[in-house]
Amino acid sequence: MSGLSSAHPVFVALDTTSREKALAIANAVAPHVGGLKVGLEFISALGPDGIRAMVATGLPVFADVKFHDIPNTVAGAVRALAPLGPAIIDVHAAGGSAMMRAARDAAAETTPRAKIIAVTVLTSLDSPGLAETGVAASPLDQVVRLARLAQGAGLDGVVCSPLEIAAVRKACGPGFLIVTPGVRPAGAALGDQQRVMTPGEAISAGADFLVVGRPITGASDPAAAARAIAAECAHAALS
Ligand code: C5P
Repeated sequence: MSGLSSAHPVFVALDTTSREKALAIANAVAPHVGGLKVGLEFISALGPDGIRAMVATGLPVFADVKFHDIPNTVAGAVRALAPLGPAIIDVHAAGGSAMMRAARDAAAETTPRAKIIAVTVLTSLDSPGLAETGVAASPLDQVVRLARLAQGAGLDGVVCSPLEIAAVRKACGPGFLIVTPGVRPAGAALGDQQRVMTPGEAISAGADFLVVGRPITGASDPAAAARAIAAECAHAALS
């Protein structure tokens, strides 16, 4: 597993069931990204071998598994996943602090230890979508509440939408990882993402890492798209 680097903040989301396609994109964008993100689609189709193949590229891998179950089950899942070599694993903060602590403790059994971060509120949920689930708080308030819970449980950071980055940074301080999907270069299609910003805006707001899927993987030239997003991030980091 190679290390995370703030100089390369983009994780490309490989949302595909094809190992060949994932490897082709990974190789094409490797010079411009800080890591690869594999999630439920990839892992459901390609399993542990698929994760190993991504780890073997030498880029840090974010296993976006979004575990959400009883603490004992989540600990077992983290114990099974960590030895495959991901640099980052996530769980849902809504699973509660006991569940998050169990994930953290299970990760500590493997060296090097994967960072455990918590998904706060899915970036596809807006206020009415959240209200439908019985949460009356605004997405911003709910994200900050869950980020504090995750930090109290000893996690390394959170996943939140760009719109909550500044509030989470203020609530949780420096050194707490903020990973942000829902990033869209100006003019790009939103898809199902509701709470979005451009890559430069997200970095300026205080994000450590950006997860970018379709704007790179759906581009006619993924390497060029990744290069442009990386350049925008570098520019924002300097200003
Ligand atoms: O294609 P797009 O850029 O929307 O991809 C974003 C990626 O980030 C997807 O793989 C999605 O699963 C992931 N993600 C998200 N919202 C979260 C956590 C992860 O969109 N809260």
